[in-house]
Formats: sequence, C-alpha cells, structure tokens
Amino acid sequence: MLKRRDFLRATLVTAGALAVPACGDDPEIIDPVLDDRELTDGAELFPQSIASGDPRPDSVILWARVQDGEEDRDLEVEVATDAEFTKRVALDAGQSKVKALARHDHCVKVKVRGLAAGTVYYYRFIYVKGDKNYVSRVGRTRTAPAEEADASVRFAYVSCQDYIGRHYNTYLALAEEELDFFVHLGDYIYETTGDPSFQNTTGRGVELTDVEGAIPLADGAFHAARSLSNYRELYRAYRSDANLQKVHESFPMIATWDDHEFSNDAYGATATYSDGRIDETDVDRRKAANQAWFEYQPVDHGEDFEYDPGAEFPGDIRIYRDFVFGRHVHLVMTDLRSYRPDHLIPEGAFPGKVVLDQARLLEELGDVPELAQPYVDIESYGDGIYASALTGAAQAAGYDAAEVTGNISVAFINQVVAGVNEGLPEDMQIPLIGAEEQAFLDRGIAYVDLGKTGMHSSIGSRYFAVKDTVDIYSAIRYKETQGASEDVMGAEQESWFLETMEGSKATWKVWGNEYCLLPLAIDLSANSVPEQFKRRFYMNLDAWDGFRNKRNELLERLVDVGNVVAITGDIHAFYAGTAGLDGDPAKRIVEFVGGAVSSAPFREMLQGQVAGDPVLSAVPGAALLAAGIDNLLTSTTTKVNPHLAHANSYAHGYVVVEANGDELVVDMRSIDPTAVKTDYTARRDDLKVQSKRFRTLAGESDIYRDDDGTWRRWDASTQKWI
Ligand SMILES: [Fe+2]
Repeated sequence: MLKRRDFLRATLVTAGALAVPACGDDPEIIDPVLDDRELTDGAELFPQSIASGDPRPDSVILWARVQDGEEDRDLEVEVATDAEFTKRVALDAGQSKVKALARHDHCVKVKVRGLAAGTVYYYRFIYVKGDKNYVSRVGRTRTAPAEEADASVRFAYVSCQDYIGRHYNTYLALAEEELDFFVHLGDYIYETTGDPSFQNTTGRGVELTDVEGAIPLADGAFHAARSLSNYRELYRAYRSDANLQKVHESFPMIATWDDHEFSNDAYGATATYSDGRIDETDVDRRKAANQAWFEYQPVDHGEDFEYDPGAEFPGDIRIYRDFVFGRHVHLVMTDLRSYRPDHLIPEGAFPGKVVLDQARLLEELGDVPELAQPYVDIESYGDGIYASALTGAAQAAGYDAAEVTGNISVAFINQVVAGVNEGLPEDMQIPLIGAEEQAFLDRGIAYVDLGKTGMHSSIGSRYFAVKDTVDIYSAIRYKETQGASEDVMGAEQESWFLETMEGSKATWKVWGNEYCLLPLAIDLSANSVPEQFKRRFYMNLDAWDGFRNKRNELLERLVDVGNVVAITGDIHAFYAGTAGLDGDPAKRIVEFVGGAVSSAPFREMLQGQVAGDPVLSAVPGAALLAAGIDNLLTSTTTKVNPHLAHANSYAHGYVVVEANGDELVVDMRSIDPTAVKTDYTARRDDLKVQSKRFRTLAGESDIYRDDDGTWRRWDASTQKWI
C-alpha cells in the first residue's frame, strides 16, 4: 500500500515555472539555441498519448503515460507558446524532470504554474532512455482567462463514452471545434466488459487480464472491473482510441465522475447489480476505481487535497471543485455519486409491504388520498391462509420469509394468489380478496403502489416509479429522516456548492451536473394499457427526480443566485428545459442536457428495459410506448412536462456552449446513433453532424430556439415556441 502523501508526490509533481515574468504576467521564454538535442519520435511509447486538464489563469495539469517495461522511467516536460517549441517556457529544471512510477502504472501528472492567462500553450513529454530522447505527440492546451477579463468563453461538454462495440465519431467531430476547454460529465469508462442489456457484444472490446480480480456477471458471460488492474486496463483501452486522443491533444479537460467510473447506478461504495439480493458495498473496489481515475485523468488535486489509497472513502476523496473563466463563466463541478444515499425504493423492497398505513396518511396529509390502496394484516387476515401463499412466493423469489409480515397490499396478495391458484386443483384454490371485502379495509401506500411490481428489480425502484405516490412518500421520508433520505451531495459539498454559487461574481454560474435535474415524467392514464399502468411515472429516480425534495431546497437558493445554468449528461439524450420549484414554476433554472458520446441512446435503453422486464414486456403496447418516448415526454395532451422545451432521446453527440455578458448559447451537435458501429475516421465527409441551437439571456430563465436566424421563446403554458 502507498503511504499518505506518497501518491501526490509520485504523480503530481509541481513543476513550478521559474516564473521570472519578462513583462506583466508572461512567463520567461527560453532561448532555443540553448537546447538543440536530437529528438526521436516516441509516440508508440506513449500509447495513451498525452492530455491536459483543469486549466486556471496561471496553471494547467499535464498528463502522460509511458509504456516501456516494468521499471520506473524518467520523463521531461516541455511547454512552449508555439507548436514548434521555438518559444519554450522556462520550467524549473529540477521539477520539469519527473518520474513515471511503475506503481502508478507509469502515469505522470505535472502542474505547470506561472503561466499567462487566456493563452494557448503547447506541451510534450520526452522519455530519456540511454542516449535517446523519445518525444510524445505535441499537445495543445489553454489557460483560463484572467478573472477580470471581459472574455467570451467557448467550451463543449460530453458524457457517456461506452467503448464496447462502439466508435467515437462524436470525438472525430468534436476535435474540429475551436474550444477553450471541454467538460466531461462522467461515464468516461464503463466498468463492464459487454453487458448485453445495454452494451454491444460485437466489435471492439476490452479483455480484462486480471479476470480473477473482476466480478463475473450473468454466470460469467461478462465481467465488471473490481481490482485496480481491471480499472487501469479500462482506462488504457478507452484512451487508446485515436479520436479521443486527438481531443485530449487539442483541449484541456475538466472532468467529474458519474456512476460507471465505479459501478452502474452506484451510490457511495455500493453497486446495484444484484437488485438488492446481496449487499454490494465494496469499499476496496471503490478505492481501486478512484485510484485509477486519479492516475489517468488530468485533474488538479487542489491545494489541500492529497490522494491516499488508505484514506477513508468518501470523506477524504474530494473531487468537487470550481473554475473561473473571466467575468462571465464560473464552472462549478459537483460529485453526485460519492455521498448519495440508497434509492428511495430499494431494488430489494418486498412489493407488498405497506410503507404508509392509513393512520400515518391521516396524520401527515389530513386525509387518505384517492390513490391509497387496501391492505390487510397478513398474519391475522383470513386465518393466515394468505400468509402461507405469500411466504412460498417470496422465498421462491429469493426473499426471507420474514418479509411476509405486518400490513400487505391486497392488490399484491391477489396477484400472488392468482399465480398460486393456477397450480392448484379447483377445490383447493385460495379465494381472492374481493371488491366488497376491500371496501371495508384500511388503505395505505405499499411498494407496489410506488411502482414496485417485481421482486428484486430496478423497475419501480430506480426506473419507472409512480409519480403521485412517490411524491407523497418521498416528502414524508424526507421529513422523518431530516433530509437524509435525499442527502445527495453530503453536508460539506452542499454548503460549498451553495456558497460558491452565491458568492460568484460571474455572469453565468454553470453547474457541471452529472444527472438530469429537470423532472421527467410520462402520463399513461389515457393510454390503452392495463389499469395498474394508467398513471404518471417518473422515468428515472437514479437522477434528480429521486431527490425532488432536496432539489426544491437547492432551487429555492439557486433561483435567487440568478443565471445558473445546469449542463448535464448521464441520460444519453438531448434535452432543453427548466427545473422549477414544485408549486411555483416561475422559480426555475435552465438546464441543457447533452447526449452520449457513444453509449446506447436513452430510447434504446428504455426499449431494452421494457423487453428485459417480465412485467413490462407482457404489457401490450409497452414496446411502442418506449419507442415513442419523446412524444410521451413532450405531450401537449397530458402536459406532464411543460418545462421540457426540447427532447431528442435518440442521438449521440456533444454540446458547444458560448457564453458572454449577455447570453449563453448552446449548440447541440448530434449524430445518428446507427453511425456508432462504424469508425468514420477515414471517411469524415460521410459523417453527418446536425446542429440545434438554443440560448438563454442574462437576467432571465427562458429558453430560446434558433429557427433559421429567429430566436423563438419556449412558452410552457402552451408548450410552443413563440
Ligand atoms: Fe452513461
């Protein structure tokens, strides 16, 4: 194990430039005739090439990885203001020589300080081996403008770059942009080697060498990374992509992580593969994932931050941080995975279990809402005949018999009993609890009323939960846990986040937000679906809809800050809309959600979920509804998301943002998802990139769309661009 402080010393060598400013803030330039050593092309010795990140007005992080055997290797860093390196920046000779250590997979990070603001720099690494000087490719980076500069800022943001069987045509196009930097909102890697539920299993892939150290899933059909070796191997594979390398060689990156840098739909150190069958908390795995991220990503650890593999997770692992780009852009990057609690409805929740009984509803709401459903005490009702039927079914589904206790939903009992009866002769069948009996029973809310139709399932837990009951239950839980049920950021990050936002002097406070802030529901009450589905559903409680009470609390403050714009990834779709305070939609902030670089688009994921779920796949028309998700989301009949101005759930791509003192313009640049299976590098002209432009104006929280040169405003009351 590494000792505390060791990691920082080893991989984050502060190459403080001598910084004897020739004039103003400009760093000293070396006379090139002083150094005329011969360089040999060494690009092959840097198989992940080079990268830069976390640009500040006077510094930037440079990254490289050298691959040449097991020994520690000596590298030198060169920084210049021209691509030919005739105007080199004077770096402290002692500190510009760095060691690529075997124990960090030969990754090196250098923080170059003393640079001039808003300036393009070129950099390269030189691997000195014997009398040869092997040189990496040349990277281009750019420092942030000075805080007082009246600078227009242009950057892109991306997320979700599944590599398995997919190509980075998005990056082929992105590399052609002129940008100050790009933001990565997470899912830079996917931890699984080919999960057929959402990954391609043909085409390019990743083989984990340390297969013993990985987690076998689907009876070993594919694996999830667990060991440090596994996670490093994923970064090496992903970063071997020529188009991703090109982007890193062209712009500095500012990255946060989402779930897949560790594990799908994770919270803290807990994975969710088994849907609650076993406890998947694995701190060692989380630490391995974190270490690989810190080794491979060009992130600044900050003044006080020390990465220490022996340190507590999450307490000592702080990645949330902010960046100021002149007077107009303050980028605030959060970490929404490390501190969040389990989902409101656990995957392993027993569907029949009543979570709010009649007395509780009366106490909390003053009456029993229409949507409450009858329940019985399972031990006493019907002399216990239902208890034994349910216990058998629960055990068959992997539950403990002890789950079958207390108040249980009648609808759930009847559903199970109907199934049990199918296997029984007529004279032995158990009677269902009829409508007449139900009329006399107490009513409450059970997990099944929250949408939890299946046992051990993400449906009705992370995805596709009933909106109206979730709204009631989450509010009561929030109150009784004093906010802990939705403590998505953790107390420390939340205070930092709000203080940073409220203290910002920049025109635009841009929130680098991992998952969807704006509510996304669908309303099936008028659709021809079985009675139990004629409801409003949240699409994804793994996102902010799972933290709606906390969202309200934060929005209350962010609305007052003004000009807060969330930029978001995760959902593999392009959306433009506003997240408004429940009960007061005038209080809202603008959000622009960008599609995935390459991962399966949201529509495709949804179709896969419906097909893969035993309950949903049996619902007639469910597949068609999934295919028409954008119509459901933007419906003017159900008016379920009037705040959603634009939805495209079937596209790949990226978003370019241009912000100045008056406006923030986004250009959603999308690519047909069928292109993802083909590498367009050698046939760039065949790759079509569509553009859709939106903007918001300083002092407002409206969204405008560019209709061939005319900016039309989204009117939520009519759901039209006017
Ligand atoms: Fe993703």
